[in-house]
Amino acid sequence: MNKEAPTALVLGGTGRTGSLLAGALARRGITPRTAARRGADVRFDWDDPATHPDALDGVDRLYLVTPVMRVRYADQVADFLDLAETAGVRHVTFLSTYNADQAPEGIDIAAVEADLASRRSVTHSVLRPAWVMQNFADDHLPVVDGVITAPSDGGTEAFVDAEDIAAVAAETLLDPEAHAGAVYSLTGPEALTFREVADTIASVSGRPVSYDDIDQEAWINGALAAGVSADYAVMLRWLTGAIVTGNGATPTGDIEKVTGRPATTFREFAERNARAWTGEAS
Ligand SMILES: NC(=O)c1ccc[n+]([C@@H]2O[C@H](COP(=O)([O-])OP(=O)(O)OC[C@H]3O[C@@H](n4cnc5c(N)ncnc54)[C@H](OP(=O)(O)O)[C@@H]3O)[C@@H](O)[C@H]2O)c1
Repeated sequence: MNKEAPTALVLGGTGRTGSLLAGALARRGITPRTAARRGADVRFDWDDPATHPDALDGVDRLYLVTPVMRVRYADQVADFLDLAETAGVRHVTFLSTYNADQAPEGIDIAAVEADLASRRSVTHSVLRPAWVMQNFADDHLPVVDGVITAPSDGGTEAFVDAEDIAAVAAETLLDPEAHAGAVYSLTGPEALTFREVADTIASVSGRPVSYDDIDQEAWINGALAAGVSADYAVMLRWLTGAIVTGNGATPTGDIEKVTGRPATTFREFAERNARAWTGEAS
């Protein structure tokens, strides 16, 4: 690894964790190079391999965010990792998903973890986050007309703050040796029902917020009707199915273990982001 001027390529560099990670790395002396199709330091498109070599030039570590809203990408990622190794990347931190090893066959997430584990000239760390809290503050699970609509059958999830994911990612990229081979399951400090989430958002925003525990298949059909690709249904079914069957993420101590500070609570997150639900300008 080049100790003179470490440079980290941050894929998904304009996204929820990537943008926060770039800031954290810059504050800690590593040059971040954000990559995305638009609005990042370098233009990078998974579907345009011509954009890959320039993105990797001079880079020795990588934050890997695989193509989003898809389930089949292992070959594409393997080709990119081959190129990254040749370009001099020596550590990869992979943004995976909670319980990735239990993902259904049709989802390539475990295949990417296995690919990384098989590479001998790069070390790697795997981050497996629960559902991120930011889903409720942006267009993933928005509050629409005072209602959060998602299937859970009363199940719980230890929602995690993207800031905490980025903080853990930063530690792994700052000291790859210390985190080589690590798999971190990143969660918030408490498993919450969606109703509890709605109550907290109502409390910090001062507006009524309720929760509609919609049927799982009806919700998935709604997502497909709204333009989500049919291939992605398997992912939506897996993610929501875990909660519906009572197997949602449960709190781990991994964020505190890596960063030395407790994971953010949903209330702390909600207070920090109250404007997302009040519509007030920042
Ligand atoms: N959301 C959750 O609750 C959650 C929980 C656990 C794990 N995850 C995992 O986290 C990862 C990121 O998901 P997210 O929803 O949080 O997204 P995100 O990181 O907020 O946004 C996606 C990023 O990827 C970039 N991107 C999209 N398409 C691209 C393409 N074809 N080529 C290059 N860059 C592209 C986007 O910028 P451009 O559009 O400008 O390219 C953006 O920077 C996914 O693998 C997801 O499975 C998500």
